[in-house]
Amino acid sequence: MTLTADPTATPTAAAILRRQRVRESAARTYARSFPIVPVRASGMTVEGADGRRYLDCLSGAGTLALGHNHPVVLAAIRRTLDSGAPLHLLDLATAEKDDFTTALLESLPAPFAKGARVHFCGPAGTDAVEAALKLMQTATGRRGALAFTGAYHGMTAGALAVTGNVAVKQPLPSGGEVTRLPYPYAYRCPFGVGGEAGERLAAVYTERLLDDPAGGVLPPAAMIVEVVQGEGGAVPAPDAWLREQRRITAERGIPLIVDEVQTGVGRTGAMWAVEHSGIVPDAMVLSKAIGGSLPLAVVVYREEYDSWQPGAHTGTFRGNTLAMAAGAATLRHVAADGLVARAEQVGHRLLTELTALKGRLPVIGDVRGRGLMLGVELVDPTGVADAVGSYPPDPALAVRVREACLARGLIVELGGRHDAVLRLLPPLTITDEQAGAVLERLAEAIAAAGSGS
Ligand SMILES: Cc1ncc(COP(=O)(O)O)c(C=O)c1O
Repeated sequence: MTLTADPTATPTAAAILRRQRVRESAARTYARSFPIVPVRASGMTVEGADGRRYLDCLSGAGTLALGHNHPVVLAAIRRTLDSGAPLHLLDLATAEKDDFTTALLESLPAPFAKGARVHFCGPAGTDAVEAALKLMQTATGRRGALAFTGAYHGMTAGALAVTGNVAVKQPLPSGGEVTRLPYPYAYRCPFGVGGEAGERLAAVYTERLLDDPAGGVLPPAAMIVEVVQGEGGAVPAPDAWLREQRRITAERGIPLIVDEVQTGVGRTGAMWAVEHSGIVPDAMVLSKAIGGSLPLAVVVYREEYDSWQPGAHTGTFRGNTLAMAAGAATLRHVAADGLVARAEQVGHRLLTELTALKGRLPVIGDVRGRGLMLGVELVDPTGVADAVGSYPPDPALAVRVREACLARGLIVELGGRHDAVLRLLPPLTITDEQAGAVLERLAEAIAAAGSGS
């Protein structure tokens, strides 16, 4: 077999894109939305092979807390490479892992971190979610899970189901199911009332359902929740509602797993999004930013749940030395450089100015978010408003706006119901000038796409 081996030959961007289209899977995602070939990136800026520069408001789907190729991250990677440390080590003990674990535990809210255990997972958020659910199933002897409308927790399904190893399956009770609960999404209120009334109903519903002897819900192994739904459309849960979920689960002995894969590491204007409400979960699922742009995922949990057997959640790539070095450097830099407060401050400015824009552009139905995790929901204002006064989503307009943004040098991805929400996830290092440019380009793009030009 002979492979083409000429790393110096630089194909044109058009050729690369064409080959990607014919050689890669039909399931490719972001590559469809952004037909560009990035060749260099620094901070918030990505440069394409065609020489065009883009402001990146996607940040690796919220992964790049410090933006692309931050000097602190690069220095940590270089230091580790130069040290001769092994790059792959399953889950053996290393100085880099020890240091990362210290930095991580120091960054977590003290009442949760005290006595907590860390399990290193396969390097994706979805594997840490699997681990957290499996852990709580093992600990409680129950199988089902409580999850919310609009939730996104990953893509793996059934890996364990098709696994033959009985030893890792046997501790898990069979017959589980997911009970879907309403998430307090005010603009598209699941109860059709919105506001605080909708939020109250969403809390009452959880409690009543669990206590109803004919409610059809077996005692669950866990509840899993996002503090701000990311892929669900940048929907923040009110703090009071989250505190209610904590009270309800605690009173009924249901472990609470908070999925901070996207909200963690300063993204929402708190180091960890649970800090806004002050709740102490039983487990936290962490990935994305904790690896400083390299793949890393963990579940951290209270030690009383540490009841699974050695090898109960194993995996080959759980010891990525470079990711741990990059991650520890990122966690420390975010804390030391005041980037959490910065996310809150710039996020507030963006939210305020986008809300003002909503007043001028009726195609903006809702503006929401927390810190630098923001959403702009696009609607058809000529449609029929629902009981809350919300207009129908306009996914076709959202696609046009995304294209118009790209044409103006701005990378913005869609999400939420019907993919009608523009999601803004800039790095925490965004400058005031960059924030101004984002607002300007976004406003122009929405106005242009909305008017059909
Ligand atoms: C809240 C949340 N949980 C889990 C995941 C899954 O993470 P991954 O894509 O790394 O598997 C994501 C990904 O976007 C996420 O936003």
